[in-house]
Amino acid sequence: MSAKVTRIGILTGGGDCPGLNAVIRVVTKAALTQLGLEVIGVEDGFLGLIRNRMRILSEADVSNILTVGGTILGTTNKANPGHFAVGQDEEGRPIFKDVTSRIIEHIHERRLDGLVCIGGDGTMTGAADLIKHGIPCIGVPKTIDNDIMHTELTFGFVTAVQTATECLDRIHSTASSHHRVMLVELMGRNAGWLTLHAGLATGCDVIVIPEIPYQLESICETCRERSKRGKRFTLIAVSEGAAPVGGQQVVDQVVHDSPDPIRLGGISAVLAGQIAAETHLETRATILGHVQRGGTPVAFDRVLATQFGYQAVNLIAEERWNHMVVMQNGQPGTVPIEAVAGQQRTVPPDDPLIAMARSVGTCMGD
Ligand code: F6P
Repeated sequence: MSAKVTRIGILTGGGDCPGLNAVIRVVTKAALTQLGLEVIGVEDGFLGLIRNRMRILSEADVSNILTVGGTILGTTNKANPGHFAVGQDEEGRPIFKDVTSRIIEHIHERRLDGLVCIGGDGTMTGAADLIKHGIPCIGVPKTIDNDIMHTELTFGFVTAVQTATECLDRIHSTASSHHRVMLVELMGRNAGWLTLHAGLATGCDVIVIPEIPYQLESICETCRERSKRGKRFTLIAVSEGAAPVGGQQVVDQVVHDSPDPIRLGGISAVLAGQIAAETHLETRATILGHVQRGGTPVAFDRVLATQFGYQAVNLIAEERWNHMVVMQNGQPGTVPIEAVAGQQRTVPPDDPLIAMARSVGTCMGD
């Protein structure tokens, strides 16, 4: 390894997810013991670089965190270096500014030779900007949405599928006991991976994802038809990003000082009202929300996060900066960070899981 790399920074950006600490742990331990580097933990993602909030990480700091949910470094999904809210105008609207130069100053002041950026598409977009300004970065993909380009898996996703599956199983009991139509709304933004996997795992009767615009009548007909067949309940998994044919997604809130301000949510309640009105069946909606992001990672995610972190350290050792580690066809690999920035990986219409769901009689909403 080049003698000039002596100190690296590590940060977690975007929404938290299970497995972040597992990456921090392996990167810190391996960088300290195998590469002899100093490791600086940046607090709250890019916000820590903007505000110059960082701390030295020792082996003791990362001991006993493998199984802990969230991130010991903190995170935010509101700090994009190129588009950062620095204040408000007279009407209360945020004023955005490019604060990259401030970040670069702090990186030089702290003598960081490179950064390990653990995050989703927003974090990779921020890292791609820093790379353009000469800051070497390595990307590690996380998100429960599993929507990062060029990797078939992000850590955190499998845990979220497991959590959502447990919740759907519980709702299944109530749906069946009370003979109701029950809708469960899952996260995922514009990608239906989480809903598709959890819906398949729980044998949902209807799975509604953003990639397949739904027809209300088709969903209602499934409920009615099941009722006629003597199946006295219907379990529906719906993505927060789902929308009807020719219609709009339901927005829960607009976070004005976030570079990606739209927070989706509420489609399950809208659909529940419409289904009840059309079918006269008793209907309820549950939004799983942030419960899907929290808690300890399942074993698979602990291993995947450790593998990704280990690959990241190897890239530093090989001086292969500006790449993100990925999983492709079950094999570890890398892609340039700039190939990932600003993109989302959604469910393709010909994904085998969709045909698989249809083969067991699941209505995909269309
Ligand atoms: O990207 C992860 C995610 O949990 C999405 O599934 C969801 O739309 C969004 O973050 C929620 O963001 P927030 O934590 O700001 O409400």
